[in-house]
Amino acid sequence: MSRLDSFIGRMTAQRDYLDHIASHPLLPDTGDVFEIGLGNGRTYSHLREKFPDRRIIVFDRVVMAHSSCVPEDENMVIGEIAETAKNYVGSDAAFAHADIGSGNEEIDAKTLEWLPQAVVDLIAHGGLAMSCGMPLPHARLKELSVPDTISSQRCFVYQKI
Ligand SMILES: C[S@@+](CC[C@H](N)C(=O)[O-])C[C@H]1O[C@@H](n2cnc3c(N)ncnc32)[C@H](O)[C@@H]1O
Repeated sequence: MSRLDSFIGRMTAQRDYLDHIASHPLLPDTGDVFEIGLGNGRTYSHLREKFPDRRIIVFDRVVMAHSSCVPEDENMVIGEIAETAKNYVGSDAAFAHADIGSGNEEIDAKTLEWLPQAVVDLIAHGGLAMSCGMPLPHARLKELSVPDTISSQRCFVYQKI
């Protein structure tokens, strides 16, 4: 498979997973959305379309997004997420989307030391979480299945129990 095909496959899966969650019957009716990793702003842009009535709070250490996808100052949290997310513990969010896998085993292992707990601390009981690039192993995150029609591509969906 070419790298182009592989990239398209990953992006398609991520888009399909986000669409799946936006209409998920378990998604709480109220609550904010967290975007963990702004990056280029592609998935943030998609979240804005899918969750037009919800506040979307975004974490990243830098703002390097396309100018059309830069969150309002009050919704952009700049810094190391392991630290900045502590200010949002108990937010009771409806949904958190994490996309901070680096593809580097060592870096991702370090991220896994804090990311699953950070996600648990951000979302409400019954809230949903999705991670691309790395699973979120945690006793309070129950993995949910997704329809077979969606290619997995290392995306994972959870409900906080
Ligand atoms: C793969 S990109 C996100 C791509 C984004 N979902 C998109 O569609 O454009 C990951 C982003 O997470 C940020 N990031 C990764 N680990 C981080 C950390 N520990 N603290 C803060 N930001 C981090 C990086 O700066 C990068 O912008």
